[in-house]
Amino acid sequence: MANSTSGYSRRRALALMGAGAGVAAASTALPTRFAIGGQAKVRIGTLLPYSGTYTRLGQAITNAMELAFDQGGGKLGGRPIELVKVDSEAKPPKAAELTNKLINQEKVDFVVGPVHSGVAMAMAKIAREENTMVVVPNAGANQVTGPFCSPNIFRTSFSNWQPGHPMGKVLLDEGKKNVVLCYWGYGAGKQSAQGFKDGFVPHGGKIIKEIAVPFPKVEFQAALTEIASIKPDAVYVFFAGGGAVKFVKDWAAAGLKDKIELVGPGFLTEGVTKAQGAAAEGIRTTLHYADTLDIPANRAFRAAYKQAFGKEADVYAVQGFDAGLLIRAGMDAAGGDTGARAAMIKAMETTAIPSPRGQWTMSAAHNPVQNFYLRQVRNGVNEVVKLAMENLSDPAKGCRM
Ligand code: PHB
Repeated sequence: MANSTSGYSRRRALALMGAGAGVAAASTALPTRFAIGGQAKVRIGTLLPYSGTYTRLGQAITNAMELAFDQGGGKLGGRPIELVKVDSEAKPPKAAELTNKLINQEKVDFVVGPVHSGVAMAMAKIAREENTMVVVPNAGANQVTGPFCSPNIFRTSFSNWQPGHPMGKVLLDEGKKNVVLCYWGYGAGKQSAQGFKDGFVPHGGKIIKEIAVPFPKVEFQAALTEIASIKPDAVYVFFAGGGAVKFVKDWAAAGLKDKIELVGPGFLTEGVTKAQGAAAEGIRTTLHYADTLDIPANRAFRAAYKQAFGKEADVYAVQGFDAGLLIRAGMDAAGGDTGARAAMIKAMETTAIPSPRGQWTMSAAHNPVQNFYLRQVRNGVNEVVKLAMENLSDPAKGCRM
């Protein structure tokens, strides 16, 4: 799609509106503000990683969001769409500047992003102050739908607490009580580990060791050596994208594959099983999606995604698709007028999104209330094993709206 420099400029449209309003008092023949706005492109700014270890996540989200827009006739509330793509590089120190660029320079109507929780923290703070509409299609930072929650901020993915939480019960039901945690030592890894612990420790599980690896480093050898010497019942890990490929391959190469159970939130095997190859086979994870979810919306989505992009969809694609559907619902309810905030927000809070993951609802804090599945990689596919937790809601601690 077009970038910020091509097509009809919204700023020009605003300038025209201003001029029109000045003359409107003297002439009733001029078009209304909304009639002019109806022609202007809706500007969607993406703040997503198009480089670095999370590149394939950013691409899947962007692809699937565009698919959702295309399936809606390429329009939002009757208006054509312009995408303004910004590479977040998954680097928190750059997040404030890039968010400001999208909001104040590019004057986007919606920001869609990010993937990385650290980027989300900076972005959400600015979006709250600027009152910009935001849809978070991945980053799980609990704070975004906790203390930072806001009427203009929505999430179509998960809170970091959610996907790890059901795994505690899965392990305890199998009598696995001694666990080592290993994760990228930033917000997402820490909060994911905490979600797991909350479902594990109070019910008799023990954490014998926590190993944090600095993001986005992929030197896992020291951690693997330590894990091999501890011999826990299971290891719970948080890695994703390029890091997940490397970890799962290193795990198998270290000879741990059939000795110690490796589990985690489903990011460990999402969008990467092809690259992981045989090393991924048999790995069990919990997530709000699985490739084989046998519902019409999932079958249709996977077929359309494969046809459009020549690859298999994954959870990131699903979250991006739902971001597109959510924006469509909001813009339709607003009749294309981005100023009709109350109608837009109400629709985004209440519309049942026909998601490939199955229908989910938006919590009061604007985070999905959704099912979590136990999955297993079989022949490179993340297959459903069973429903692990139904309609799991994030605790949303500290959210006041
Ligand atoms: C995050 O930083 O919130 C994050 C990144 C990648 C994932 C999940 C969560 O797969």
